[in-house]
Amino acid sequence: MKMTRRAFCAGLTLAPLARPVQAQDMPLLTARAATVQLAPDGYPATPVWSYDGTIPGPVIRAAQGSRLQRRLVNTLEVPTSVHWHGIRIDNAMDGVAGLTQNAVPPGESFHYAFDLPDAGTYWYHAHTNSMEQVARGLSGALIIEEATPPDVDRDEVLMIDDWLLDPDTGLFVDDFAAPMTRSHGGQIGNLVGVNGRYDYRLPARQNERLRLRLINSANAQIFGLKLEGLTGWTVALDGMPLDTPEPVTDTLVLAPAQRMDLIVDVTAEEGETAGLLFASADDTWRVLAEVSVEGRAASVPRGAPQPLPRNPGMEVTGIDSASVLEMPLQGGAMRGVESVTFNGQRLGWQELVQKGQFWALAGQAGLGETPFTTLSRGETARIRMTNDTIFPHAMHMHGMHFRVRKADGSLGPLRDTVLVMPNETTETAFVADNPGKWLLHCHMLGHAASGMTNWIMVT
Ligand code: C2O
Ligand code: CU
Repeated sequence: MKMTRRAFCAGLTLAPLARPVQAQDMPLLTARAATVQLAPDGYPATPVWSYDGTIPGPVIRAAQGSRLQRRLVNTLEVPTSVHWHGIRIDNAMDGVAGLTQNAVPPGESFHYAFDLPDAGTYWYHAHTNSMEQVARGLSGALIIEEATPPDVDRDEVLMIDDWLLDPDTGLFVDDFAAPMTRSHGGQIGNLVGVNGRYDYRLPARQNERLRLRLINSANAQIFGLKLEGLTGWTVALDGMPLDTPEPVTDTLVLAPAQRMDLIVDVTAEEGETAGLLFASADDTWRVLAEVSVEGRAASVPRGAPQPLPRNPGMEVTGIDSASVLEMPLQGGAMRGVESVTFNGQRLGWQELVQKGQFWALAGQAGLGETPFTTLSRGETARIRMTNDTIFPHAMHMHGMHFRVRKADGSLGPLRDTVLVMPNETTETAFVADNPGKWLLHCHMLGHAASGMTNWIMVT
């Protein structure tokens, strides 16, 4: 059935605000239904679940060292909660329904308040049935600003997402839990966009210097990206500054939940194409964000940028004497897994599939009563993730950043989400300096919902 836009909007009802909010000066973050034009003009608008009515939600900016407060008001018809991805946060504020808090029922609210020790590019998103709630739009950028910002002309957030829409109705294809996608690579959209727009455009002047904060908020899509008409350096990954800015020469890979801060100079001339391109499924490069060049900011581009200031207390020490914990990534279509513990029962592959689960981490599907490991505060640990599946996985640890320890013992940059390719082993090393219960899961959200979620305890 083809709906006219009018009928479409008239059919939409907003849930009433069930409870008046008490604290008057507490900034709100309202989870609510809205209708947003995601598809190109001429296609119907899309009913979404949003923060404050927009896709993505509002960009939240705060100063490093300050305290962030938001009252989440849930006007949706489903329970929800907010996770502040990448923040070294107080565990009680981590937003994981069923582990660090109860989901906030419809009509109720929850007061989030936490300190911000680190500057950088982060994001916030629903962490209750995330597979569906994030896909319906519940995410936004969270930018923690350095006391002294780098020397750039502008600071721009580019939140990259995809949506799976029915072009006739504008509705999300609402089979968010389809076993076919959950057991394979996860849900991939048919429309890709930046900041809620498939045709995002950024006007700029030649030789202008921009800081681009890229965030992949897609459910499962890994983006291959390249710059055109821009000369750039990667200055931070997952919020954390690199010791030395790295010139962008090659394709950049941004897995779900990962962030990447670039400093770019607009080198294209007026009228030339410039922007951020992505490798689309048909193997062509397409424009993801167009930079349209008008006029000139300076006669020559600037030299290589300085590194961003480091965040405090992030040294990963004691790696050589740390215990190594094995975490095979298991399951999925075409591979399966022999036997797995799920809800306290030992199950074979077929039994697991009958329960709607397809994946496991170290023989455990989903959260068990006991954590994957218990670490004492300040202890250094290494987790060796071996990908025994035929799919890539974007493995994310809450509450703490890690470094990838390479085979020769050298260390990669600080990250909170690492892409582990099939048949690859990736070893993370971190200091367990944040007490609490922390999730460790795949950020392909359909995988996380089907077994690829575990947790660690820091006492
Ligand atoms: Cu982006 Cu469990 O999180
Ligand atoms: Cu996965």
